[in-house]
Amino acid sequence: MSKILIKNIKGLVQFGEDLPKVRKGEEMKKLPILENAFLALENGIIVAYGSMAEWGGITDWRNLEVIDAEGKFVLPAFCDSHTHTVFAQSREEEFVDRIKGLSYEDIAIRGGGILNSAQKLQEMSEEELFNHAMERVDKLKSGGTGALEIKSGYGLTVGAELKTLRVIKRIKAESGIAIKATFLGAHAFPLEFKENHQGYIDQIINEMLPQIEKEGLADFIDVFCERNYFSVEEMFQILQAGIKHGLRPKVHVNQFSAIGGVRKAVELNALSVDHMEEISEDDIDALKGSDTIATILPSCSHFLSIPFGDARRLMENDLPVALASDFNPGSTPSGNLAFVWSLACVKMKMTPEEALNALTINAAYAMDLSETHGTISLGKTTPILITKQIPSLAYIPYSFGDQLIERLIIS
Ligand code: NIG
Ligand code: FE
Repeated sequence: MSKILIKNIKGLVQFGEDLPKVRKGEEMKKLPILENAFLALENGIIVAYGSMAEWGGITDWRNLEVIDAEGKFVLPAFCDSHTHTVFAQSREEEFVDRIKGLSYEDIAIRGGGILNSAQKLQEMSEEELFNHAMERVDKLKSGGTGALEIKSGYGLTVGAELKTLRVIKRIKAESGIAIKATFLGAHAFPLEFKENHQGYIDQIINEMLPQIEKEGLADFIDVFCERNYFSVEEMFQILQAGIKHGLRPKVHVNQFSAIGGVRKAVELNALSVDHMEEISEDDIDALKGSDTIATILPSCSHFLSIPFGDARRLMENDLPVALASDFNPGSTPSGNLAFVWSLACVKMKMTPEEALNALTINAAYAMDLSETHGTISLGKTTPILITKQIPSLAYIPYSFGDQLIERLIIS
């Protein structure tokens, strides 16, 4: 048995029992912090925590690693509920094109963007894709990510989508952290289906989904609902088919335009609606009283120079908000969640506490990991973050760009 005791913790963050599954609206301001605390883990399971003053001491010192966290904060690892971590190549040439004046949409219409990534992925072997992705996963972990959702969507053929999902399945087995797989065959229409949308949708429904279910390759289904991509009706059809194969919707909506995708996704009990750079009054009404969480991706807004999602408006309407990276080669070539934390504070006017709730408890909910991740609670298996010595928790988003995570403890 492996046992770890972390002692003299300056602040044990996001701890407690019988916590809600999500914090919403005003409650997002709450962030429990216990000063001068300890935390004990056995085989990666949280077995005890409390203040050093109350600590009764250790009776069995065999196989015990003791970590002194003097001056350091301890928190549940970040959960990244939205990424596209499996891809073949970076796309910095499009980044330069955008600097020179082209928009993300202009580049996509010229055959760049997602189609560019799809061609590269189709040509790459499963083994090579896996190796590249695992290098990225290791980097994400060193930045404090302790659970990761990964989408397909750069395959866009039956073979390449299945190949991507098999790579994600292997990452699940080998990464040491919780991985959730999302099938995003409906990321863009391949060129040969430009004039025949139903032809590609039929492939998704009749050829990809049955095989995905057979091999147990996905947890969720996603569609990029946007003008020039998938219409609200097309999304609805694909999500309904996914649900029949056991996949809960978790969708890309409202990145560039609010076209009614949120209400339709909520109607199908989507776990999350992601992006939300644009939000309409009807979207807010649809989300109220639902089990669907809005997930905002500020690094995407930063990189594409598009509006930041209005988290304050969602919270003012008593709704919960999650934050994620959107790590992908086109719109967000960074999976750094400490940077997301900082952007949420600086650009979206979330307080450090609200943003950390959005990256832990609410993000765990957004990837269906509430039972095990997102808070420091007895019996949970969430990886644990230990920071470097810092003056306060707010110092992390304040000191943007610094690497202040010292260690990620995984079971
Ligand atoms: O979430 N918006 C759709 N998909 C990705 C970007 C895809 C790409 O440009 O490669 C996103 O931003
Ligand atoms: Fe995305």
